[in-house]
Amino acid sequence: MKTPLIIGHRGACGYRPEHTAASYRLAVEMGADFIEPDLVSTKDGHLIARHDNVLNLTTDVAKCQKFTTKKTTKIIDGESIEGWFSEDFTLQEIKMLRAIERMPEIRPENTEYDGQFEILTLDEIIALTKDLEREFDRTVGLYIETKHPSYFTSLDLPLEPPLLDALSKAGYTGKDAPIFLQSFETENLKWLRRYTQLPLIQLLWLEGQPADIPLRGGSLSYDDMATPEGLRDIALYADGVGPEKSHFILAANAKGQLDPARASSFIADAHAAGLAVHPYTFRRENAFLPADLHSPGGDDKPGQLEEEMLLFMELGVDGVFTDNPDIGLQAKQRFL
Ligand code: G3P
Ligand code: CA
Repeated sequence: MKTPLIIGHRGACGYRPEHTAASYRLAVEMGADFIEPDLVSTKDGHLIARHDNVLNLTTDVAKCQKFTTKKTTKIIDGESIEGWFSEDFTLQEIKMLRAIERMPEIRPENTEYDGQFEILTLDEIIALTKDLEREFDRTVGLYIETKHPSYFTSLDLPLEPPLLDALSKAGYTGKDAPIFLQSFETENLKWLRRYTQLPLIQLLWLEGQPADIPLRGGSLSYDDMATPEGLRDIALYADGVGPEKSHFILAANAKGQLDPARASSFIADAHAAGLAVHPYTFRRENAFLPADLHSPGGDDKPGQLEEEMLLFMELGVDGVFTDNPDIGLQAKQRFL
C-alpha cells in the first residue's frame, strides 16, 4: 500500500452509521487502504465493533423494552456515564440491537439507514474483510482499536488475548500483516508488544493522560508523550503514533486559517524516533473544519476537506483517519 494510507475511520462513517457492514464496505468501495474497527467486549467475552461500551449512542437499545432494566450508571475511566453498556449484554442480546447514526443533526442523510444493520463481531469483520479483498482483488487492512482496555481487564474481560487469538486464527501474524493495533492506553500496547509483531500505534488524545497511567500512580500526560523524548519512549514498544491533528500538528490561527508555517515539529520528531504518523480525524462537515475551509451554510454542510488533508499530507503524515475515504483518495491523488 502506498503512503499516505487512507484509513476508513469507523468505515466510511461520513455516509453510513459507523461500524456497520455498510460503512466498512463503502470505505473499501471508495478505495480506503484500511477499515478501522473499535472494539469493546460483551458480557460473555465476545469482541464487537462499537466506539463506546455505552450502547445508546449508536444503537436502538433505548427503544428496546426488553432491555429497560439494564440501564445504569457507571464510572468509566473516571467519568460517570448513564446508559446501557456492552459488558452487561451477551452476544445473543447484542444481536437483537440495530445500529443508528451517532450524529443525526450533522449527518441527517445517514439516519435513513437507522435500524437496518446489526452489530458485528470481530470474527464477522474479518470474514467481511476477506470477502471484500476477493471482490475488489486487493489487500484491505484492519486498523483495530482496543477501547477502554484497563476497564475491561478490571471486569475480567480483557480485550487483548481474544484479539490476538482471532487475528492469529485468520492468518494475521508478523510485522508485515495488513494490520495495525491501536490504543489510547500504554500498558496494553506494551503487553501486546510482548506477544505479537503486528504493528502497534500509540494514540494521543488532545488533553489529559492515558487512563492506565493514574491507575499505576503515574503522571505521564499525552503532551509529555508528544515531546521528542516521549516519542522515543513510545518507539520502544510501538511502530507509530495517532495524534489528534490540530493539537499536536497544526491548529488553525485566530482567523481560522491553516498556515503550514505554524506547524509543530511533531511529525519530524516522530519520524526521527522511527514512528509513523497517522493523525485523526478528518471530517468533511463545516463543524469539523477550520473556518477558512468552510462552505456557505451550517455545521452540516460539506466544506473543503480535500484541502485540509492535502495540507497534512504535504506536511509529511504517513496516513490519515477519515470519515470520508473518497475525499482522502482525492487528496492522495493530488499529493502523489
Ligand atoms: O483511533 C483513532 C481515532 O479513531 C481516534 O479515536 O475516538 O475516533 O476512536 P476515536
Ligand atoms: Ca478509533
